[in-house]
Amino acid sequence: MGIRLDLTTCGITQGQRNTFTDNLNDALAKLDSGKEAFTGWVDVPGIVTSEEMNDIEKTAEEIRAKCDLFIAIGIGGSYLGAQSVMDALFAGDGENGPEVVFAGCNISGAYHKKLLEKMDGRDCCLCVISKSGTTTEPLAAFSILKEKMEEKYGDEAASRTYAITDKEKGRLREEADELGYKSFVVPDDIGGRYSVLSPVGLLPLAVAGVDIRALTKGAVDLMSDEAGKEAEVDYALTRVALSMSGKWIEVFEYFHPELHFFGEWLKQLFGESEGKEGKGIFPASLMFSRDLHSMGQFIQQGKPMLFETVIIIDERNDDLMIPESAGAPLAGKSIEQINDCAIKGVIAAHTKAGVPVIKVHVPVMDAYNMGQLIYFFETSCAISAYVMGVCPFDQPGVEAYKQEMRDEIARIDG
Ligand code: PA5
Repeated sequence: MGIRLDLTTCGITQGQRNTFTDNLNDALAKLDSGKEAFTGWVDVPGIVTSEEMNDIEKTAEEIRAKCDLFIAIGIGGSYLGAQSVMDALFAGDGENGPEVVFAGCNISGAYHKKLLEKMDGRDCCLCVISKSGTTTEPLAAFSILKEKMEEKYGDEAASRTYAITDKEKGRLREEADELGYKSFVVPDDIGGRYSVLSPVGLLPLAVAGVDIRALTKGAVDLMSDEAGKEAEVDYALTRVALSMSGKWIEVFEYFHPELHFFGEWLKQLFGESEGKEGKGIFPASLMFSRDLHSMGQFIQQGKPMLFETVIIIDERNDDLMIPESAGAPLAGKSIEQINDCAIKGVIAAHTKAGVPVIKVHVPVMDAYNMGQLIYFFETSCAISAYVMGVCPFDQPGVEAYKQEMRDEIARIDG
């Protein structure tokens, strides 16, 4: 196992974790049975066939050859996974292939107007991603951007448009089939927030130049690793035990800003999987050391209702020396040495203040270890949701808001 869980400062004992053994056994049986709805992501090699993997890579190569701006349109699970991996690996910035940007993840006029302007003078491709094929935000953005593509490319626009959606249901599937977009299928048995290792994440990531085979291998290796399974269980049960002791907020923290969107992905994963039937742990995320100068105060001395999960990259790919002009004590040390002091200092200060801290170590930030992180958190999250007694794979609240919004839209005059 590449990633490593450290529970030495979490404040929960093995004895406390053991109190959930019955619920845990039920949870593991459900996940491992292969029969439970929406558990298709558990068996990583089963998510995409080797033909699909080849097709994704071939299509990505074609896209890389014909555009310098690739716009992936989607929201929630249909974009956060790709954005988080891309950012963590500094991919998709246009330096080694097309610039990859996201749309349809907000309903801002200003955002999409700027994007239309950006498309001027650039070679563009669109990829619309929606499992249901009916979500308002991506469909609205897609229509706007598609019109621009038709203006730019006329009949050629369809051959620059890609769709990732259900194999037969939804408006998007109908359109893709009718207009002949190259399309990929979101597997039936995988929900949005568990779909990053399906075409939903893999196509945009391959276009961004990410090694999607290494990403997948990281997850596959963790899946077949006994120590990995133990760590997923321990993390899940520690979280449940902490919540039962009154810690109802989990703050995901990272000391490298490229993990910002991984924090967003984690919030979606845990928030949508656990937050139902009056249960769940509220997931928050903070970027350190920036947020130590704002939220750090609350964590240290505010209402004691939270615990922290810190993601620590052990070996840094880039480092810089601090010049002599900084004077003592900084001069002659590297910026990542100082970052390490921040990590150690924060954990020491917060644990002394009685805040439980869970540490997840990543040996080095690369595609393989991102695959491990994704699988680790997905599996732990599904286990803890089951142990709490909720279904990890539905999102009735989100569906309720989607319908209310559609009703509001239908009431707009004219
Ligand atoms: O996890 C989920 O299922 C949701 O967050 C969806 O990903 C999100 O609502 C987008 O749905 P769709 O892909 O159907 O457009």
